[in-house]
Amino acid sequence: MAQVVAGVSRTFNEYLLLPNRTGVGCAPEAVDLRTPLVRHREGAESAIELGSPFTSAIMQAVSSPDLAIALARNGGLSFLHHNCPIDEQAADVRKVKNFKAGFVTSDTNVRPQDTLQHLVDVMRHTGHGTAAVTHDGSAGGRLLGLVTSRDFHPHRHDLDAPVADRMTAIADLPRSGSDLTLSEANSRLWEERLDCLPVVDANGHLRSLVFRSDYEDNKRYPNQLVDLDKRLRVGAGVNTYDYEERIPALLDAGADVLCFDSSDGYSDWQAQALTWAKKHYPEIPVGGGNVVDGEAFDFLAEAGADFIKVGVGGGSICITRDQKGIGRGQASAVLDVAAARDAFRERTGEYVPICSDGGLVHDYHMALALAMGSDFVMMGRYFARFDQAPGAKLPTKDGFVKEYWGEGSNRARNWQRYGQGGQGLIFEEGVDGYVPYAGDLSDGLTVTIAKIKATMVSCGATTLPEFQATARLTLVSEQSFQENHASVAVRDTPAVAV
Ligand code: IMP
Repeated sequence: MAQVVAGVSRTFNEYLLLPNRTGVGCAPEAVDLRTPLVRHREGAESAIELGSPFTSAIMQAVSSPDLAIALARNGGLSFLHHNCPIDEQAADVRKVKNFKAGFVTSDTNVRPQDTLQHLVDVMRHTGHGTAAVTHDGSAGGRLLGLVTSRDFHPHRHDLDAPVADRMTAIADLPRSGSDLTLSEANSRLWEERLDCLPVVDANGHLRSLVFRSDYEDNKRYPNQLVDLDKRLRVGAGVNTYDYEERIPALLDAGADVLCFDSSDGYSDWQAQALTWAKKHYPEIPVGGGNVVDGEAFDFLAEAGADFIKVGVGGGSICITRDQKGIGRGQASAVLDVAAARDAFRERTGEYVPICSDGGLVHDYHMALALAMGSDFVMMGRYFARFDQAPGAKLPTKDGFVKEYWGEGSNRARNWQRYGQGGQGLIFEEGVDGYVPYAGDLSDGLTVTIAKIKATMVSCGATTLPEFQATARLTLVSEQSFQENHASVAVRDTPAVAV
C-alpha cells in the first residue's frame, strides 16, 4: 500500500513572514545578498559566490547570452540552455565569456557603395545613429569609415548618393588597436572629444566600438559576477544523454559551472552522469536536480552534486502535475530539502547549497524561498519578461508582451529533460504563452532587490544566513488570504483635494 508522507504540500502563498526586531544599523544599505553557489567545507568560502541570489532558468525562452550578460553584471548567474546542438551552446558560452564591458559589436553596418536611403533604413531598424562602414557591410569587415545621423540630413542630401560621400573616411578617423582597456578608451573619448572610438585588429578589421555613454553605464554595475580574469561568469545546462560530448565542449568554451537539468533528478541516470563529471572534471562545479524531498537531496549530494535544485511541478508554464500527478508544493519542498541540507552538513562537514526553482510569482516569494533555506533561486517567467530575454516582444491592445514557453512544450520539445521513454516528447509537460513585458533587466532587478532588502530589514537581518536562522513564518488562513486581496478600485487620475 502506498505511504502517505506527513504534512500537507504547501506553496509560498500560504506563508507570511513575521517582522522581527529591527536593530539600529539594520537598514537596506547594510544588507548583503551574497550567497554561496557551490559545495564547500563548513566555515570555508564557496569557490563561486553570487553577488545576488538569482539564477535564470535553463530554458530557450530565458537563458540567452544577452540575458546571461545582463544578469552576471547584476551579480547573478545564467545557465545557458542545452536545447540546441553542442556547438551552438558552446558558441553561446563564448559570447558571454568574450563580453568586454563597453566594447560593443557594431550592429549598424553598411558598405561605402550602399545608398544613404539604405543607411536610413538600417538605422531605423536598429535604432542606432552611428554606423560602421566596412568593405562587406559586416560587423567584422575591414573598416573604411564611420557615418552618423549627424553627417547627413534626409531632406537636404540626395538619398540615392552613396554612403562614401558623407562618411568620415578611415584616414581621418581616430581609432585604436584591440589591446586597450575601457578606461583608456574613455580617456581618448574625452581628450579627443569623440563620441565613438572604433577598435580594429592588426589587419584593420573592425572588432568593436566604444561609446562615451557606455563607460558611465559600466559604472552602474559594481556587483558584477566575474572570474579571476575579470570575465563575466556563466553557467550551462547539460543533460544525461550527451554529456560525455557536451561537457568537454562547454568547458573548452569557458563555462564556469554546469547543471544537470531534469524535471526529475532522483534517478540513477543523474547519479551516473554526476559521477562521470566529477571523475573527469573534478575542479568544475556541477549542480543537479530537480528534487522535492530530503531523501532525493541526499542521493544527489552523495553522488557529488555541488548544488541541488528544488522544484517539481511548480513552474508557471508547467503542466507536469496535471499530466503525471507528480510534484510537491514549493514551500514544503524547500523546507524539507533545506532540513536535509543542514543534516548533511552536520554529518559530513560539507555545505551543499540549494536552489528554489520555479513558481516564484511575486517578489516576496523570493524572500520566502530564501528565508525557508534556499541559498539562491532560479526563475523563468520573471526573466522572460525583460528586453534581454530571447522571446519576441509583441504589441497587444493592453501594451506589450514577451513570448514565454516551457521546455516541455511542443515548441521547445526538450525530451532530454523529461524522460518519457525513448527519444522524443510523447505528451506535453509545458505550455507556450506570453508574459507581460517588463523593460530592462537591470531596472527590474533593482526594484526586486530593494523589496527583498526591505523584507530582510523588517525581519531584522542583514545577511542571508542571518535571515534564514532568525526568520519566523506563519501559515495564512483562507480568510486572511482573502482579506489581503480585498478588491479596491484603483484611481487612474490624481486625487483632487476638497
Ligand atoms: P517559472 O520561474 O515559474 O517560470 O519556472 C521556471 C522553471 O520551470 C524552470 O527552471 C524549470 O525548472 C521548470 N520548467 C521549464 N519548462 C518547463 C515545462 O515545460 N514544464 C514544466 N516545468 C518546466
